[in-house]
Amino acid sequence: MAHCVTPLTSSMASLGCACRFFPSATTRAEAYSLPLLSPPPSTPRSSLKCLKSSPSVSPLFLNQKFQRRTLVHAPNAGGVVRSPTCFASDPDQLKGAREDIKELLKTTFCHPILVRLGWHDAGTYDKNIEEWPKRGGANGSLRFEIELKHAANAGLVNALKLLQPIKEKYPNVTYADLFQLASATAIEEAGGPKILMKYGRVDVSGSEQCPPEGKLPDAGPPSPAAHLRDVFYRMGLNDKEIVALSGAHTLGRSRPERSGWGKPETKYTKDGPGAPGGQSWTVQWLKFDNSYFKDIKETRDEDLLVLPTDAVLFEDPSFKVYAEKYADDQDTFFKDYAEAHSKLSNLGAEFDPPEGFSIDGGPAKAAPEKFVAAKYSYGKRELSDSMKQKIRAEYEAIGGSPDKPLQSNYFLNIMIVIAVLAFLASLVVN
Ligand code: HEM
Repeated sequence: MAHCVTPLTSSMASLGCACRFFPSATTRAEAYSLPLLSPPPSTPRSSLKCLKSSPSVSPLFLNQKFQRRTLVHAPNAGGVVRSPTCFASDPDQLKGAREDIKELLKTTFCHPILVRLGWHDAGTYDKNIEEWPKRGGANGSLRFEIELKHAANAGLVNALKLLQPIKEKYPNVTYADLFQLASATAIEEAGGPKILMKYGRVDVSGSEQCPPEGKLPDAGPPSPAAHLRDVFYRMGLNDKEIVALSGAHTLGRSRPERSGWGKPETKYTKDGPGAPGGQSWTVQWLKFDNSYFKDIKETRDEDLLVLPTDAVLFEDPSFKVYAEKYADDQDTFFKDYAEAHSKLSNLGAEFDPPEGFSIDGGPAKAAPEKFVAAKYSYGKRELSDSMKQKIRAEYEAIGGSPDKPLQSNYFLNIMIVIAVLAFLASLVVN
């Protein structure tokens, strides 16, 4: 598999590198039952992390046998042989999963709930806590039942059910990556902006690593603006990002039986698509555009939802600047949304490799343009051979040479001056 970045040693090859030679979860399970492949007591934490299987507490994933990260231990002359370094997720499997997510979206119209899943996994991040995974964030903890049962996550078990077959088909994609991949793909497939994503998020391994309840925002707090700032500033996000990200409510519906907010159904939701019912923020709630902002600003439609935390975006003086801008200018909304979403998707995540990787061919993060000092310097630079030849040819065409600068033709110049003076004199005389 492409995520193995260092060559196999022959001893590993003969045993079968977990990355390359165990194509299915079952085969890997057999491999791990071999005593040769069990970790020695001295294995350092990082290696254990790599070896550890992921107990999936959610009943949905009970048949998930192994966490993505693998490390092969095998005897050789010196003792333990480590496997090639493996990324947290396999880039090829991520690409495969992305295609399957696109198919899933086409058949089930589950864009909104996948976006909400990604947001709720990442949105527990606390910038004031350094330690991973205690700091929360995009670490796949939302797959555990204990976190799924948090009131804010009502209904998200359905998103997990939808992703389960994809996770099983691509076991070498971490949950943390899968959730963020699904969310970004859903935004893009709904007509939203391309989001610059990086992958390689490491999963938490147990439910004891889930964040405490109460990290996500309430929809109807006593002071909505202050509450949004409390929650989003804790994540390291600012006013612009709060407003831009709230624009994700251009997708989806609120269901009273889940969150307690919204109507059981409206004229826009009674026929689906997908499971009918709920109250949407926009008329076309499967299309990602700036209608969320336009509708809050201009439309008074009883069938459209405006939560207290939505309304405040046009009331608070600082939020309002962005909300107005996004209502007037979809391009600016798309640009700011894509940036904020990308940032949200990385919150709290531990990446392996540490810089993450892209699955779109480019670098994980657009590298800043390199400043090329030589372009502007007056320092002596060697000319290329072809340039030297060109210069020589130009000199020779006028009878000179680059090695010997042309002499000024004083005689010719004097003759020209005399001729001009003679001409002027003849004009005066006549
Ligand atoms: C600003 C604070 C936010 C609050 C108070 C909030 C609250 C809510 C509530 C109450 C629902 C309805 C859930 C249900 O009944 O099923 C919901 C749905 C949704 N939220 Fe938020 N949300 C916030 C921010 C965000 C952000 C930042 C995103 C994404 C970047 C997001 C994406 C969504 C989506 C897509 C849905 C629709 C889900 C579906 O149709 O199944 N929300 N939100």
